[in-house]
Amino acid sequence: MKILVTGAEGFLGAAVTRALLARGDAVVAFDMRSSTRSDATASQLVQMAGDITDLSALACVMLEQRPDAVIHCAAIVGVLSSLGSPIHIVRVNVEGTLNLFEAMRLANVRRCIHISSEEAYGAFRTDPIGETHPLDPVLPYGICKAAVEQLGRTYRDLHGLEVINLRTSWVYGPGLPRDRIPKNLIEAALAGEALHVPNGADSAIDHTYVDDFVAAVLAALDHREHRFDVYNVASGKATTLAQMIDIIRTLVPDARLSAGSGPYRHGNQIEIVRKGALDVSRAKIELGWAPRYDMRAGLEAYVRALRR
Ligand SMILES: NC(=O)c1ccc[n+]([C@@H]2O[C@H](COP(=O)([O-])OP(=O)(O)OC[C@H]3O[C@@H](n4cnc5c(N)ncnc54)[C@H](O)[C@@H]3O)[C@@H](O)[C@H]2O)c1
Repeated sequence: MKILVTGAEGFLGAAVTRALLARGDAVVAFDMRSSTRSDATASQLVQMAGDITDLSALACVMLEQRPDAVIHCAAIVGVLSSLGSPIHIVRVNVEGTLNLFEAMRLANVRRCIHISSEEAYGAFRTDPIGETHPLDPVLPYGICKAAVEQLGRTYRDLHGLEVINLRTSWVYGPGLPRDRIPKNLIEAALAGEALHVPNGADSAIDHTYVDDFVAAVLAALDHREHRFDVYNVASGKATTLAQMIDIIRTLVPDARLSAGSGPYRHGNQIEIVRKGALDVSRAKIELGWAPRYDMRAGLEAYVRALRR
C-alpha cells in the first residue's frame, strides 16, 4: 500500500512511518519539517514539506500521489500548547484537518486514521471508560479532537470518507519530545539527577507504550470493514505517578525521584481533569489488537532504549 502520513516527522508520525517502511509499504511523508532518512529507498519514501493549513498544497500531494489511505498525525500537540494560542490550534488541528478531508475527497482517497486523544472525553466519569463515555472536553486541545471526530462523520455521510478515530492515552517511549512524565523522570534517573515533580503522586493516568500505539494504528489501517469509527488505544490500566516512580526506582536503583500530592498539572501549571484507565476491549475484539506493554514492561523498554 501507499500511505500518506501527516506529521511524519513528529514523535508518533515518525514511529508509524518507520513501521510502514519496515513492512514494505510506500510512504508519502507530509510535514512542515523534514529530515534525512536512511531507512528507505527513494521509490519507497516521498518526503513533502508542507503545511496542512494550505489546502492547495495538500490537494496537490493527494492528487499527485494518490495514496491508498492517510494516517493523520499532524497537529499542534498538548494541552498547554493549546492554551498558549487557541486560535492557532483551531487553525491547524481543525481547519488543517478539514483541508485534509477536502483533499481526500478531491482525490477519492477514502480511509483516514485520525489520531484523536482521550482528552476528547474531558473528566472521566467512571474508571475505566469505554468509547460510549460522553465527550465533554474542557480545553481547546480536546475540544479540537472532538470537533474533528464529528467533522469526520460529516465527511463520511456527505462524501463517503471513512475517518477512524483512535482515542489515544498518553504515549511514551524513545523519541517522546515533550518534557513530561515519564520522560523527565527517566532522563533524570539515568543522568543521576534528582527530580521532584511538585504535584500528581496520586493521579492515575493510562500511558501507552509507543510500540503498542503503532501496532494499533496498523491494525486500524489494515482492518477490512470497520463496524465502529472510534477505538480507545491505551494500556487499559491507570498508573499513579507514585507507582511510576516506584517502578523506575527498581530499574534505576539510585534514582532520586519524588512527587508531591494533589492532582498532576500539565507543565506544573494546569490541573488535569480526573483520569483513569481506558477500556480497550473494543479494539481487542474488532481489530485483534492488544497492548503488549504494561507500565513496568514499557518503562523497562524505554530505559533499555535510552541506555543503548
Ligand atoms: N504523544 C501523545 O501522547 C499523544 C496522545 C494522544 C494523541 N496524540 C496525537 O497524535 C498526533 C501526533 O502527536 P505527536 O506526539 O507525534 O506530536 P509531535 O508534536 O511530535 O508531532 C506533530 C507533527 O506535526 C507537524 N505539524 C504541526 N503542525 C503542522 C502543520 N500545520 N502542517 C504540517 N505538519 C504540522 C509537526 O511538525 C510535527 O512533526 C497528534 O494529533 C496528537 O494530538 C498524541
